[in-house]
Amino acid sequence: MAKGLDVGTMNLISARQEGAETVFVQQRNSFVELDYSDMADQMLSRSDVLHIKKGDKVYVVGDDALNFANIFNRETRRPMKAGILSSDEKSAIPMIKLILQQVVDEPQHPGERLFFSTPADPIDSDLSTLYHQKTLESILGDMGYDPEPINEGMAVIYSELAENDFTGLGISFGAGMTNVCLSYYAVPVMRFSIARGGDWIDEQAARATGTPVDKVTTTKEDDFHLDFTSDVGGIEGALGIYYENLLDYVVENVVEEVDEEDVEEGLDVPVVVTGGTASPDGFEGLFRERLREADIPFSVSGVRRAREPLYSVARGALVAARSEEGEREAEEAEAADAASAEE
Ligand SMILES: Nc1ncnc2c1ncn2[C@@H]1O[C@H](COP(=O)(O)OP(=O)(O)OP(=O)(O)O)[C@@H](O)[C@H]1O
Ligand SMILES: [Mg+2]
Repeated sequence: MAKGLDVGTMNLISARQEGAETVFVQQRNSFVELDYSDMADQMLSRSDVLHIKKGDKVYVVGDDALNFANIFNRETRRPMKAGILSSDEKSAIPMIKLILQQVVDEPQHPGERLFFSTPADPIDSDLSTLYHQKTLESILGDMGYDPEPINEGMAVIYSELAENDFTGLGISFGAGMTNVCLSYYAVPVMRFSIARGGDWIDEQAARATGTPVDKVTTTKEDDFHLDFTSDVGGIEGALGIYYENLLDYVVENVVEEVDEEDVEEGLDVPVVVTGGTASPDGFEGLFRERLREADIPFSVSGVRRAREPLYSVARGALVAARSEEGEREAEEAEAADAASAEE
């Protein structure tokens, strides 16, 4: 068996295969620090809330963090920021470890293969993804896995473009980042990330309208449409403006980054958009329109959104892990056949 894991700024999601079904386990990549008090203790011991105690503090992690933050009027914190482990968060590593243990569980056997997503280096910030990638590798290795990083954009290609010979442009619009990958026959010819995504949209819209960021995020995730028909001056109006700005920025960078030498002539490229930020109605239509207007050096056969935008990176990592596992097994069987033929 093998597993896939999406390591995201907002969500940690694992994928494994059970028969014909892909099973996902998801937790928010978030935690809250509470003062140790009898009430918290009672609440924690009575439920299956993920938490640890440290001195006079209690840390509630994952999906429950937000509930506890609301009850105790505290802010949630995140181990990751802009796609990678946050350098501003001193508890980042112990917290993400705890959530990962719940999301990926124990390996089925020592050294089980696990492919985890990592972003490409961003072109618009000097953040390096190397430390993040190596740290995750070591955390997952300590848990008993044999981990392997896979580029997040490439995971989208594995998940959504198998029927197209793993050829196309895959874009994951996440919370902290947007990851872009152009692949021909499972070979990535261009990969980059930009350090903007849903968090950036929320922060900008909050600043523009003088609204708390959490309120903006809730409005966005709850029935927001990209139809630009109403709400001038309101939160939805501001969200629309920054959504448009993000898409323009992504398209502009695709135009800049694609090297014409890498483009196969005469081949129409399908485009798949995914990630939580691609969820609102109207997103793929808007992106299609923006691509059409841009001067990109390859022809696009169509733009579609993944069926389950939150799960495609985890699924793609699983597809890659299982296909490598299949190849390994085939090689081993071949070697065994050859050995027995020699006898
Ligand atoms: N229904 C929705 N409408 C709009 N935005 C949504 C919706 N659901 C989730 N989001 C946004 O999607 C983002 C989370 O998406 P996703 O889980 O793909 O990101 P991530 O993988 O955790 O982050 P990253 O890849 O950037 O590290 C958040 O910004 C969240 O607010
Ligand atoms: Mg992501």
